[in-house]
Amino acid sequence: MTRSSRVAVIGAGNVGATAAYALMLRGLFSEIVLIDSNPGLATAQAADIADANALGRPARIWAGSYTDAGGAGIAVITAGAVTHGNESRLGVAARSAEIVASCSEQLAAAGFTGIILVAANPVDVMTQVAAAHSGLAAGRVIGTGTLLDSCRLRQALADRFDVATMAVEGLVLGEHGDTSVTAFSTIRIGGLPLDHWLPASNGSDRTALAVQVRQEGYDIVSGKGFTSFGIATAIVRICEAIQRDENAVLPVSCRLTGEFGIDDLYLSLPCILGRGGIKRILPPALDPAEIEALRHSADTLRAALARLPA
Ligand code: LAC
Repeated sequence: MTRSSRVAVIGAGNVGATAAYALMLRGLFSEIVLIDSNPGLATAQAADIADANALGRPARIWAGSYTDAGGAGIAVITAGAVTHGNESRLGVAARSAEIVASCSEQLAAAGFTGIILVAANPVDVMTQVAAAHSGLAAGRVIGTGTLLDSCRLRQALADRFDVATMAVEGLVLGEHGDTSVTAFSTIRIGGLPLDHWLPASNGSDRTALAVQVRQEGYDIVSGKGFTSFGIATAIVRICEAIQRDENAVLPVSCRLTGEFGIDDLYLSLPCILGRGGIKRILPPALDPAEIEALRHSADTLRAALARLPA
């Protein structure tokens, strides 16, 4: 399988432009094409990022079309409805689904055979929509999912216990949204389980931690109107794992086929990621309460899918 050195970023708004800029800085691709229904915006964003070429990791970046995306190895779909204030991500599902379905169909029509990475919200539902409209195998349609939430969890623990973020492991699973599951059983800080740092008897602190992680996105939106840097970096990390065929294990939105009794539904579990996309899903050893919460997350996402216009 030849590796394309081109990435297409669909949606040149705050997330898409920040992701394109971060991808240029990381030097993963020699070509970055920005696609937007507003060509003027895509042109301006591409020109602005290209101005950094002389000082960054040079890449050819331009505002293009789905024809250009056809030859890309990865297509990142950031285009979708944006939430406002405390609006839930699921609240914009119908509006986003129309956009993401169109993007996916246009990619298919352009002969795209690479990997689709969905960041548009509600990302789990949108990844399922992209899979249905792209004609690609399930493992080649991935959502950013709870990678960002897991980073937020790790940062919150690092701050709380004054350790380096890199010394903290921990997974948030399920929906990237209000039913996300902070899997306390997966947390290791300096190699020690959470009980060593925060006794299980301290249930209120654990609940507060899960709420803090879930609330982070809302807090940022209330302050700046959107989020961009965290999600853009999650996009870059997933692209990097694919481009470098790392076999990295990251929590991303993937299609479950029976894990925890959940079938034909996209939500986040740890996955091995490499050149072909998702190589394998690694269901973690969760405790009964975490499994119950994950199934609640799945039920919520399935209900949201069912509410989408036919
Ligand atoms: C956030 C958006 C990407 O949580 O849903 O920042």
